[in-house]
Amino acid sequence: MTYNKQNLPILSSKYILGDSLEELKKIKDQSVDMVFSDPPYNLQLSKTLCRPDLTVVSGVNDDWDKFNDFNDYDTFTEKWLSEVKRSLKPNGCLWVIGSYHNIFRIGYVLQNLKFWILNDVIWRKTNPMPNFKGTRFTNAHETLIWAANSKSSKYTFNYQTMKKLNNNKQMRSDDWLINICSGKERLKDINKKKIHNTQKPEELLLRIILSNTKPGDIVLDPFFGTGTTGAVCKKLGRKFIGIEKNATYLKKAKERILKVKKIKAENIKIINKKLSNKISINKMI
Ligand SMILES: C[S@@+](CC[C@H](N)C(=O)[O-])C[C@H]1O[C@@H](n2cnc3c(N)ncnc32)[C@H](O)[C@@H]1O
Repeated sequence: MTYNKQNLPILSSKYILGDSLEELKKIKDQSVDMVFSDPPYNLQLSKTLCRPDLTVVSGVNDDWDKFNDFNDYDTFTEKWLSEVKRSLKPNGCLWVIGSYHNIFRIGYVLQNLKFWILNDVIWRKTNPMPNFKGTRFTNAHETLIWAANSKSSKYTFNYQTMKKLNNNKQMRSDDWLINICSGKERLKDINKKKIHNTQKPEELLLRIILSNTKPGDIVLDPFFGTGTTGAVCKKLGRKFIGIEKNATYLKKAKERILKVKKIKAENIKIINKKLSNKISINKMI
């Protein structure tokens, strides 16, 4: 059973509207099984980016991604990661996703906090945005750090399930070929404008949650956005705590998750450009 700080049991999934730096403090010590975190990237965008035809690229220039400098970002990272570590069960684990802008800084902080890095996973985007100016390589991946709470954690790893979903080959960390979130999955407003600039694909969360949790486990997401973590938890029969400071995103996340149904184990598949499996993993999760 998982409890909040007032010692009340957390029986169902929870949506929390607020700032994670404050809200995380209210979560009881050692009460969550896994954390998935997609924090601000600190992209430091200063100019408008245009395509060669001069149309403006809709990039991540939201207020939630703005920090004064690297020190400010590091202080923020240390604060939320410390609370996450306190909230995690001793055998729990953490996933953090980021780009080259922030992932190295996050890695440094989490090692200082004595998390134990297990893998860095490369999400290779099959349909990345081109480098419009032609001044760099196409930035076509994001990095996920998977870390146990400590070196001695006996974390969950559903190795056989992941192997089975990967055509009976050990799943690798460097070739998670997954589309960026698009099509019907992408939340849009009535003007067909995307609700959130960085909605993650469910396929990515599916692999993560399936690999590291058991049915009924609690997954904490301190930067919930449109609730991708919650949607996949519900599909897989896991509980979640989602913290988000933007009321519109949280409302959209709730509406989205309300429509989600638990999926049967035999219908779980991973979509991969190299593999496309529909395998029964009954009794394995
Ligand atoms: C990279 S996005 C997460 C997107 C999410 N994974 C999804 O699939 O929709 C980061 C989110 O964190 C939220 N955020 C930023 N700082 C926050 C804070 N201090 N407390 C709570 N939420 C915060 C932003 O509003 C934004 O929605």
